[in-house]
Amino acid sequence: MLSEKSRPIILATLPAVGAHIHAIAKCFYGRLFSAHPELLDDGLFNRSHQADASQQQALAGSVAAFATALVNTPGQLPESLLSRIAHKHTSLGIQPKQYQIVHDHLMAAIAQVLGDAVTQDVAAAWDEVYWLMAYTLTHIERGLYGARGMSSQTVWRQWEVEKKIQETDDVMTFVVKRRDDHLVKPSLPGQYVSVLVSLPDGTRQSRQYSLSRADQGESRQFSVKRVYGAAGKPDGEASTQLHTGVKVGDVLNISVPFGPLVLDDYSGRPMVFISAGIGITPMAGMLSHLATAGSPLPIMLLHADHSENAFALRGQIRDDIAALRDASIYVWYEQGAESQLPVQRVFSGRMNLSQVCLPDNAVYHMCGPVPFMHAIRSALIELGIPPRDIQYEMFGPDLWQADYE
Ligand SMILES: Cc1cc2nc3c(=O)[nH]c(=O)nc-3n(C[C@H](O)[C@H](O)[C@H](O)COP(=O)(O)OP(=O)(O)OC[C@H]3O[C@@H](n4cnc5c(N)ncnc54)[C@H](O)[C@@H]3O)c2cc1C
Ligand code: HEM
Repeated sequence: MLSEKSRPIILATLPAVGAHIHAIAKCFYGRLFSAHPELLDDGLFNRSHQADASQQQALAGSVAAFATALVNTPGQLPESLLSRIAHKHTSLGIQPKQYQIVHDHLMAAIAQVLGDAVTQDVAAAWDEVYWLMAYTLTHIERGLYGARGMSSQTVWRQWEVEKKIQETDDVMTFVVKRRDDHLVKPSLPGQYVSVLVSLPDGTRQSRQYSLSRADQGESRQFSVKRVYGAAGKPDGEASTQLHTGVKVGDVLNISVPFGPLVLDDYSGRPMVFISAGIGITPMAGMLSHLATAGSPLPIMLLHADHSENAFALRGQIRDDIAALRDASIYVWYEQGAESQLPVQRVFSGRMNLSQVCLPDNAVYHMCGPVPFMHAIRSALIELGIPPRDIQYEMFGPDLWQADYE
């Protein structure tokens, strides 16, 4: 709860801070990385999210959303936004003591951008907002570490690359096996790991990858789409290195699985999975889990891709769909309408939900490019599906959620 003294100050300064929050976030990261370049080059912060400013936007949006909730709906903080951040933090082993570093540079950035408007009282009120958010996050993060019986220092484990499977021209599946004697906690269906990749220039970068198959005790599986630079942009750093530099037998540092968007297969409700392109990976992981568990639930997979050749993990998915008691698959291909898979229907062009009959009372999981998810979410809401029944995974900082909360 915000103190009585700070509440009116936050109410009065929220518009000014809100209007300058992107400049504040940019200034904050500039200060943070010039004081601590290792945070960028040793695998914690993602350099491309700095280059396209998406991380600045995500930080700014989350602080604005949290402050707005504190003054407008103090009993109802943006829970799913906080949970998403906390899971991302724990997948990178963020430590409570690092909150002081972020605090110092963020408060300095607020003072630098807003200048004389930041009186002592204003600074104290925003300090209070920061620490309320930091305490909320560290509390959730402590719970996440604790539930896995670990601390921030033990998140990273060594795994050996056992297999590299070329799924399609652009997508490679990695099967990794344990290297140490630590207990491997099973992941929940829908979760991801952070993978720390050593780059040719001597720096390191971490990226998140959804687990694309149910865990088998000793090994884990994730699938990576190679990102090619377009329009003068560089090739993706980690995906290129994973595809071309990492070999079978190499050792990778991989985090324990995290991610708040997990399948609730105890609900007894039908499941609809909707994906496009590489967005198939979390769906494949969830289908694999359901198949392994022998789920009797009605399950529907709707997938859009360029063509069947571009549809990653389709062999695994075919087998899982066949093993399930009540599962069906519908595909949309931009290039033609032919399929060798045992699909219910294959359509040409982009996904159009009016072409299928969706089950009543279903839970929806979706993943794919942001414009695709926008279009599908809107179509589902048009059909009367409650937003709480539509879960989505975003393959980058979530710039969507602060707007929706
Ligand atoms: C929860 C989650 C799950 C995910 N699951 C998967 C998955 O299962 N499979 C998968 O393939 N991916 C997944 N991702 C995405 C993955 O984490 C990476 O973002 C992806 O592999 C690209 O990383 P990269 O290092 O190859 O590209 P990056 O180096 O991060 O580059 C990304 C883009 O930024 C551009 N860029 C980089 N630097 C600059 C610059 N200086 N100026 C201009 N443009 C620049 C590049 O050209 C490229 O288009 C997931 C992400 C999240 C958050
Ligand atoms: C109150 C304080 C903080 C807030 C509000 C905050 C907010 C956020 C947000 C919104 C994201 C993006 C989540 C997403 O993927 O959707 C994020 C990611 C991240 N945060 Fe924080 N964070 C805070 C503290 C910290 C601290 C103390 C550290 C440690 C130095 C840290 C390091 C990171 C890193 C490394 C990422 C991933 C960045 C990327 O992918 O580019 N954060 N944080």
